Amino acid sequence: MSVESKFIRVARVEEIPPGTVKAFELDFDRVAVVNLDGEFYAISDICTHEHAYLSEGEIIDGTIECPLHGSRFDIRTGRVLALPAVVPVKTYPVAVENGEIYVAPA
Ligand code: FES
Repeated sequence: MSVESKFIRVARVEEIPPGTVKAFELDFDRVAVVNLDGEFYAISDICTHEHAYLSEGEIIDGTIECPLHGSRFDIRTGRVLALPAVVPVKTYPVAVENGEIYVAPA
């Protein structure tokens, strides 16, 4: 296959329908994979404010809202868009090939 070997297979495309998120425990991080209108993005699933899983929050207009105190992060860039968090979440490269989603360490 042409996906570089550092990419790790996490799911099939149909397991994460548009507008949904799924978390995966990978060697390098717990990663939230989000389907935004058919495009897949991967961010760290752990909020940078305290310990909460972003995959348990809501997806709103390209952002994900932390379920604990309501910080919002841009899913594409990891940027903070609403306090109390001030540190961006990490983003990870995603590849899709033959209906499979892959994530690589940043
Ligand atoms: S733990 Fe996410 S905003 Fe506080």
